[in-house]
Order: sequence, then structure tokens, then C-alpha cells
Amino acid sequence: TVYRASTTAPVNIAVVKYWGKRDPKLNLPTNSSLSVTLSQADLRTLTTASCSATYPASEGDSLLLNGEPSDVSGARTQACFRELRARRAALEAADPSLPKLSTFPLRLVSENNFPTAAGLASSAAGFAALVRAVANLYELPASPSELSKIARQGSGSACRSLFGGYVAWRMGSAADGSDSMADQVAEAAHWPEMRALILVASAAKKGVSSTSGMQQTVATSGLFQERITRVVPENMERMEKAIAERDFAAFAEVTMRDSNSFHATCADTYPPIFYMNDVSRAAIRAVEAINAAAGRTIAAYTFDAGPNAVIYYLEKDTEAVVGTFYHVIGGEVEGWKRSVISGLKPTM
Ligand code: DP6
Repeated sequence: TVYRASTTAPVNIAVVKYWGKRDPKLNLPTNSSLSVTLSQADLRTLTTASCSATYPASEGDSLLLNGEPSDVSGARTQACFRELRARRAALEAADPSLPKLSTFPLRLVSENNFPTAAGLASSAAGFAALVRAVANLYELPASPSELSKIARQGSGSACRSLFGGYVAWRMGSAADGSDSMADQVAEAAHWPEMRALILVASAAKKGVSSTSGMQQTVATSGLFQERITRVVPENMERMEKAIAERDFAAFAEVTMRDSNSFHATCADTYPPIFYMNDVSRAAIRAVEAINAAAGRTIAAYTFDAGPNAVIYYLEKDTEAVVGTFYHVIGGEVEGWKRSVISGLKPTM
């Protein structure tokens, strides 16, 4: 018998950024963060997990990612497999009639529906899908928050992809990570007019990975202390209020300020880390011009650990926002790739 289960997980883009680990092994963060989960029709990872007593033990666990064999020996993937197996083994111990799936090699087949060339971080959707696929395969009675604690150990941002809509990752304070997990702040249906536009400045792999970049920031930036003790706690509070009240101007201001604060701590890292480039900065100016022309805030930019921009806006302002960016990409600003993914909706 081959046992099998499939699932999909969406991409999320943070509006209050996770940047810094207090425990790199358990992947515990130095601050809470908040993100919007985007529609799976556009961006998602589909993962099928299977296991069988007939899979040769000598081959061990394996992962095929977009058709290519991928290494599963890394500490993070191993941590996820270990946690999932331990939970399955506990079920098997309690009920000896269950097949001993925890002892079989695992095979994972994973595919993204967005081009890797889009330069999008896919580790969040990837680890969320991996963890849920195996949890389904093992028939674990685990809540999304429980699964988020496992996915967190694969990649921090992945814990937020277990939920839809508006999602917070609460940093927690326990040394063992038992209270560092995601929860849903609001369903997508609470504020369904929200849209995201992704502008691809470069599809090239990022220079400094988020994992090593944030560790360098923690070790060397003075500004970082100000960010985690004052800036982020305030931004989390304001952001949750803005979402509760569907106040786009407030949502936008916190989003832009938090992105700026995160990139400022990167610049304050020694040696400095630069994720944004001239093309990124041109997008910031374009958003400012769009908001000035509208006479109110209708667009917000945010940048992760790379030069690509994500622009949040409301459905009714599609023409003013997306239309302007098409114009920008059509020639006014050099450097933007023509791949634009727009109209992304919050999902679930
Ligand atoms: C800038 O989740 O990729 O996108 O936990 O080391 O895998 P690891 O880091 P990762 O970091 C994401 C950083 C960010 C901000 C965010 O998504 O909150």
C-alpha cells in the first residue's frame, strides 16, 4: 500500500516584517509580525506526500521540487519531519491497529504555480504545504496553530501561510517555542477589497539570504534594538487596529513605515545589507506620486529581502494604481521587468 495526501498552501506578504531570531535553532523571532495571505489561484505551492513500507529504506526521505530532486538533509526540513513523525508515532503508540506510517520513508512532490523566475520567495508556501501535506498523510488531529509551530521551524514566515486573510505571528516568550505561533487576525472576507500587485525588479536570486541577513542585523545593528523594542510593537498595534477598522490610509502608512524601518536596519547592519535598488526606489517615488495625485493614500509599497515591490491597494483604486504602474513599466522607469502580477486578493 502507498499512503498519500495532497494539499496547497498560499504565499503571504508581511506588512509588519519578521527580521531577527532570538533562537536560530528553534527559529524563534525577536519580534511579532503580520501578513496578508494572497490568492492561491495566482500563487501557491501544491504538495503531495506519500509513504509506504515498499519504499526502500536506503533511499530515505525525498523531495521533488518543481521536478528537480531537492536536498532534505538540512536541519530545518529535518526538524519538520522529526516533529511530524513524533506526533504520528504517539498516535500509533496509543492505537496499535494503526499502520506504522511513522517508520516509512517519506516522498514529497512539490510544485509552485508561479514561475521561479518571478523572483518570489517561495519558502513560506513551500514549508506550509510540506507540513500540512504530511500532517494530512499522518491524519494528525493538529490545529492550524499547532501546525504553524512546526512550519515555523522550516522557515519563520511559513508559519503565517497556514492561515488565510490577515495573519499574525506572535513571537511568544517561552524558551522552547511553545507559544511562538500564528493566528488569524481577520478573515479575508472581513476586508475583501484588498489587492496586491507584485512588481518584479529582478528575478535573480537574492544576494544575502534572509536567514543570514537577519543574523548579521541582530549581531551588529544598534537601530535594530529600537525596532524590536519600540517600532514593531507600535506597528503591530496600529496595524491590527487599521485592519479591524478597514482603515486603508492607516494600513498603508504602517506598511510603508515598517518596510522603511526594516530596510533601515539592514542599512545599519555592518557591513550594510542593501536589498532595494534604484528600481525599487523608483517604485517608492511612483507610489508617492500616485497618492499625491489622488489627494489621499490609495497605495502602499513594501519590500522583502530583495528588490521586488509589493503594492497593496483597494479594488476600487485599481485603475489609478495598477494603470500607473503599467505606464511606469511601459518605459518611464528603466529596469522593471515586464512581469507584473496584479489583482492578487486576500484568500480564505
Ligand atoms: C523579509 O521566513 O525567509 O520576508 O526563518 O530564516 O527562513 P527564515 O526567514 P524567512 O524571512 C522572511 C523575512 C521577510 C519578512 C517577513 O516575511 O516577515
